[in-house]
Amino acid sequence: MPIIYHEESKEFHIYNAQMSYIIEILENGQLGNLYYGKKLKDRNSFAYLHEDQERPLGALAVEAPSELCLQYTKQEYPSYGVGDYRYDACTIEQKNGSRVTKFEYANHKIYAGKKKIEPLPATYVENNNEAVSLKIVLYDKIIDTELILTYSIYNELPVITRHAKYIHNGEESIVLQNAMSACIDFPDMDFDMIHLSGAWGRERHIKTRRLEQGIQSVYSMRGASSAEHNPFIALKRVNTTENEGEVYGFSLVYSGSFLGQVEVCSHDTTRVMMGIHPDAFSWTLRKNEEFQTPEVVMVYSDHGLNAMSQTYHKLYRTRLVRGYWRDRERPILLNNWEATYMDFDEGAILNIAAKGKEAGIELFVLDDGWFGERNDDDRSLGDWYPNLKKLPNGISGLSRKIEEMGMKFGLWIEPEMVNKNSDLYRAHPDWILSTPERYETPSRRQHVLDYSRYEVVDAIFEMLDKLISESKISYIKWDMNRYITECYSRTAAASEQGTVMHRHILGVYDLYTRLTSKYSEILFESCSSGGARFDPGMLYFAPQTWCSDDTDAVERMKIQYGTSMVYPISSIGAHVSAVPNHQVNRVTSLSTRANVAYFGAFGYELNLGELSYEEMETVKAQVQYYKTYRGLIQQGIFYRIINPFEERNMAWIVVSENGEEAVAAFYQQLGCANAGGLRFRMAGLEEDAFYEVKSFNNLEKFSGSELMYAGIPIDQKRLNRNEGDFASILFNIKRISLCS
Ligand code: DGJ
Repeated sequence: MPIIYHEESKEFHIYNAQMSYIIEILENGQLGNLYYGKKLKDRNSFAYLHEDQERPLGALAVEAPSELCLQYTKQEYPSYGVGDYRYDACTIEQKNGSRVTKFEYANHKIYAGKKKIEPLPATYVENNNEAVSLKIVLYDKIIDTELILTYSIYNELPVITRHAKYIHNGEESIVLQNAMSACIDFPDMDFDMIHLSGAWGRERHIKTRRLEQGIQSVYSMRGASSAEHNPFIALKRVNTTENEGEVYGFSLVYSGSFLGQVEVCSHDTTRVMMGIHPDAFSWTLRKNEEFQTPEVVMVYSDHGLNAMSQTYHKLYRTRLVRGYWRDRERPILLNNWEATYMDFDEGAILNIAAKGKEAGIELFVLDDGWFGERNDDDRSLGDWYPNLKKLPNGISGLSRKIEEMGMKFGLWIEPEMVNKNSDLYRAHPDWILSTPERYETPSRRQHVLDYSRYEVVDAIFEMLDKLISESKISYIKWDMNRYITECYSRTAAASEQGTVMHRHILGVYDLYTRLTSKYSEILFESCSSGGARFDPGMLYFAPQTWCSDDTDAVERMKIQYGTSMVYPISSIGAHVSAVPNHQVNRVTSLSTRANVAYFGAFGYELNLGELSYEEMETVKAQVQYYKTYRGLIQQGIFYRIINPFEERNMAWIVVSENGEEAVAAFYQQLGCANAGGLRFRMAGLEEDAFYEVKSFNNLEKFSGSELMYAGIPIDQKRLNRNEGDFASILFNIKRISLCS
């Protein structure tokens, strides 16, 4: 078993072939961290890694002659108020007003496999040989509360997952004010912090900054993981590149407000913690109640950022995503949003769908505007029944007509929201999150339903259940277009208001669970004004996420490149849209638009009826192309090659798991006259194998070593002559022999 407890030294060694993670039980019973990194050969004790230099002003955790000083000790889950002045992982208010706690080791258990932490989403195993888990029970005897830290290590992947659970046995209630999922201290600060930040339309841009003393963090206090910061950080060694060097990834499986924080202390140690954001959070635990934190997925790589991302991709694609669609190739879809917005009727929709069918597209998706009186975004959210003026045969009739055409039918919903101008709001004005007598801040002219209330989730489920069961629906796009303000639930007691943000997300997960269990073959795509809730929590329920409302091919290069840092290609919704582009007015070629969108769950979002004959023929060829390569693209091993945040160009490659085929793409963001020489050096191929490489209509033969080390010269003059700005080249690569 790759988790060993060394009784004498009181150390846990969690390891697999790639990495080690070593925990010690400190003299005062709390947990310390001795090491996290590349695999160490096991030994009875690594106690020499406990640095305990005596320093002025240090508060001792046990009486002299011991020197244990928590401020200078690398810890696993520090508590508030016991001599460590860095940020703590847990703050608990007690009846007497004290927030001091001390959780000491009580017992532990090592077991094969990995247990569920429902109702929260989490990574899983299919059989118990895939992972080993360690459950360490810590105990605070004054408040009679157990704190259970669980670690699971995957045997074949450099992944450790962590979460914390509080079980309160005491007679007097306690209030959790901060309950992080995980915390870890590193012995130095020689790292760059990478995070994925942005805003609507430019989500998950890669940001890199050198660590400095003090706090650096990413967070959301918006009630959703957000477009502003993704619940992910990585610490990379300063010289780490895409393909070399150490990096530690931290990804939170959660869709609500979160904190990912890095603190460097004045002696250059680095503390990373991640979990639910403590702002607006407080959770009362009465006797026999418990609280479960979300899971943090920690990935270690000593082969650079690509290897870290590939681990996340594999884990999330195969052991986070679940159900019917997990291993299936995703259908090519046609969405009507940018084609019609809300201005359509059944005839217009059928015409667009018919063109989709002609192009070979497999799924037609009807977006916003089909329900209630929804002709504008100020009304009808919550009224989940068809607008019969637009769709006289309802969704039931339309979905059948689309199926008769030979396509599957998909539908847009936004079930967490309501407009004040709706039957639902008129019947239940108290169902929104808002504080009595205070202004109710609208956003996109809508309000957030209070999903912390079971009856609200229930009512929405009933409406959607009726709709889905009466129609032929194969896909659902689940949108969410605003963040939470005035977070207050009308039915919760004053002392429970601090639970509402988290309970709301649990309500969202509950509705997802009910719909995905009942309609297990429906493909769900989550969406939030584009990619404002692109997080692992959502992927547990919906295998794909609409990546961004910005559909411009050039903007998408950065967005998809950044998204690939954590999320598998199969999860990234990517569509070809019309030009001039609706977000930035840019004109790019149909081929570059497809060459970018191919590296995702591919589709179209425009009125194909407005294309010329030649363009339509191109679309047909693109659809055929993606059908041929989608298995490889969606399930292959993805490498980022040229970084569009740093270079004028961008490139990436996906190699099939068996190494037989690959698809690579090179993109010129902006043309450059008389440019210097440029080689496209690929990655992930076998040095000694020979490959046939097809680009445009050229077919050439190269060894893997040539493709990766010499690189293919890019003829920029030709690129400029043919297309200029935004030109792109696709390379189809096929292994023809294993060696010369
Ligand atoms: C935001 C989504 O990201 C868009 O794709 C579209 O579905 C609109 N909402 C509809 O209101």
